[in-house]
Amino acid sequence: MSLHSIYRDVTKEVSLIDDFLKDHIGSADVSIDAAGKQLLEAGGKRIRPAFVLLASKFGRAERADLIRVAASLELIHMASLVHDDVIDDAELRRGKPTVMQRFDEEVALYSGNYLFGEAIKLIGEIGRQDLVQVMVHTLQEICEGEIEQIFDQYDWEQSVKRYLKRIERKTAILIEASCHLGALVANCSPEDTRALRLFGRDIGLAFQIADDLLDFTAKRTELGKPVAEDLRHGHKTLPVFYASEDGEFFDRLLTIRSMPSHDEIAPLLDLLHGTDALTRTQRTVDKYIRRAVGRLGVLPRTSARRSLEEVARYVGRRKG
Ligand code: IPE
Ligand code: IPE
Ligand code: MG
Ligand code: MG
Ligand code: MG
Repeated sequence: MSLHSIYRDVTKEVSLIDDFLKDHIGSADVSIDAAGKQLLEAGGKRIRPAFVLLASKFGRAERADLIRVAASLELIHMASLVHDDVIDDAELRRGKPTVMQRFDEEVALYSGNYLFGEAIKLIGEIGRQDLVQVMVHTLQEICEGEIEQIFDQYDWEQSVKRYLKRIERKTAILIEASCHLGALVANCSPEDTRALRLFGRDIGLAFQIADDLLDFTAKRTELGKPVAEDLRHGHKTLPVFYASEDGEFFDRLLTIRSMPSHDEIAPLLDLLHGTDALTRTQRTVDKYIRRAVGRLGVLPRTSARRSLEEVARYVGRRKG
């Protein structure tokens, strides 16, 4: 099922958020203005705003508040993409040159910061301290997660536990926050809010593990961003943990030090594809998706719950 049909209950609101973002992303600085607009117009799945909207269906929210929360989540996501592409030295995002590529690192850093600022401004405008607190905590966790990742690069002996903690902070927390904030702004019951938040966290973990799998399996044209780069950049992701159980792979992995050439990485990729690492990784994604869907058990069986289950299945099988 396509994302378009899964979003059916919220299609109109997702496009309202796009319009709202177009109006709020502008800056007097021409480079910041162009950077934000290009990234917005290049597309993206808008999965975080969709989670806000779907979670809010289990309560009642003022439309103006809801739009601010959803737009704010997409802005934080966009800012973290702009920064991530600097750290990962990536030249392509959403099928277009990255901000860093089009301008330079400084513009990327400051336009990312600008987007973070806009996100906090929007959520602040609602006038609810609880929403601001969740958002600020989320931002701080993302920063710590990304820094952790820099320290963990090329540490091939790190534990799976460390990987899971890292992806929880750098990715899962934002999807958790999307569901949590959607529930809070709609004043859902504490029980429903908790279920939605935990659903978001599990989906977020599955989302990053699927992303790490796609780095080995997808095509650059399908994904709109570079592929087969994580290993070269020293990121020990779940497929690499599984492949490391193979002695020959692990011995060779230990010889990889900072920024190897593609030729040095090629034999490792061949060895990895010869193991069951990728199928095992998919099974782990499936496990988190099942756990996420299980969390929805306490919610009423509404069309929004069905949509959340469908987004969950989409995340588990996504190709882009
Ligand atoms: C990419 O997120 C970054 C990760 C957390 C893996 P998305 O895959 O949601 O990116 P867009 O918004 O669709 O471009
Ligand atoms: C997720 O990690 C990035 C963020 C938290 C922004 P990745 O580095 O794997 O994301 P992609 O693959 O570049 O989208
Ligand atoms: Mg990264
Ligand atoms: Mg990246
Ligand atoms: Mg990735």
